[in-house]
Amino acid sequence: MPAADLEALAHPSGPVLVVGGAGYIGSHTVRMLEGRGIPVVVFDNLSTGHREAVTAPFVEGDLRDREAIRGVLREHAPRAVMHFAAKCYVGESVHQPAVYYRENVLNTWNLLEEMRAAECSEIVFSSSCATYGLPVKLPITEDHPQDPISPYGRTKLHMEHMMQDYSRAYGLGFSALRYFNAAGAAGDGRLGEDHDPETHLIPLALQVALGRREEIAIFGDDYDTPDGTCIRDYIHIEDLADAHLRALALIQRGERQVICNLGTGEGFSVQQVLEVARRVTGHAIPASAGPRREGDPARLVSGGACARNRLGWSPGRTDLEDIVGDAWGFHKSHPQGYGS
Ligand SMILES: NC(=O)c1ccc[n+]([C@@H]2O[C@H](COP(=O)([O-])OP(=O)(O)OC[C@H]3O[C@@H](n4cnc5c(N)ncnc54)[C@H](O)[C@@H]3O)[C@@H](O)[C@H]2O)c1
Repeated sequence: MPAADLEALAHPSGPVLVVGGAGYIGSHTVRMLEGRGIPVVVFDNLSTGHREAVTAPFVEGDLRDREAIRGVLREHAPRAVMHFAAKCYVGESVHQPAVYYRENVLNTWNLLEEMRAAECSEIVFSSSCATYGLPVKLPITEDHPQDPISPYGRTKLHMEHMMQDYSRAYGLGFSALRYFNAAGAAGDGRLGEDHDPETHLIPLALQVALGRREEIAIFGDDYDTPDGTCIRDYIHIEDLADAHLRALALIQRGERQVICNLGTGEGFSVQQVLEVARRVTGHAIPASAGPRREGDPARLVSGGACARNRLGWSPGRTDLEDIVGDAWGFHKSHPQGYGS
């Protein structure tokens, strides 16, 4: 990032309010902001996040509670918001759409309305490659049709649309970052991925290596891919965090809409990930293939030039061994997660 932009971010005009900053992606971003001298306040209800993951000033609160949002905006007068809070289980969203519309859409509306009242008009938020649905072409660029196939993906698309409309009508400056698969951990092993239930492949494989699970279930090995298993694009969590700072800097310079995919552009199959996890951990990590999971496309790989051209960003940590190695560092030092 150019020095001038970093300087602008560090300028003492109020902290960045990080909503969901105790979660996996939020906590790494908080740490990076703090590391660059940018003041931060975290707002999180700890429903899936971890208090231990946050060293920044912390306010425990829920986005369902407008008073609580109003209070934190009034007390800290943030110059901008980063919004990571959401319910994120695709399968659960199919069975409990009401929860997802409330937690993702309604809560985001609560946040935007309180920001509007407080004249806080800049936000960077977590969108998802799930907004695209089944790919009609690969790699998936930002202009790919958005036709999500799960309630989770649809709530993320509604969040994007809400921001676009607020931007047009009220001048909101926003960045929607459509992540592919966030993976890895902080290089020093202090922060990492600890979800309960865990659904992501890399932490699941590492839990097998730690003896917390017996084996990995592979959802389908008859896809049209070289080894028959699904291919995904894994992006290192610290690269992801870095992109958020760049998006924020761009918005603070006056851009009103920054919508970018965040991935590496490279895909790895489930089998390839497991092979790397076996090499990194020295553990056999048994796996057995079962039926396909509904709605899982064979390949999801990021494309598009937005991150490179607009954010000046490119992923620095694309070696899968590096990504899994960092995740393993966190898992070894936190074998039962943050409570260890
Ligand atoms: N992990 C991925 O690979 C991935 C991929 C695409 C998009 N995303 C999106 O990125 C964001 C962060 O994902 P994550 O993996 O860090 O999830 P996470 O569950 O680890 O973090 C979410 C954080 O938000 C907090 N939170 C949830 N509901 C809240 C509420 N009502 N009020 C206040 N705080 C609340 C949780 O306690 C948690 O700390 C999510 O919006 C998710 O949809 C994640």
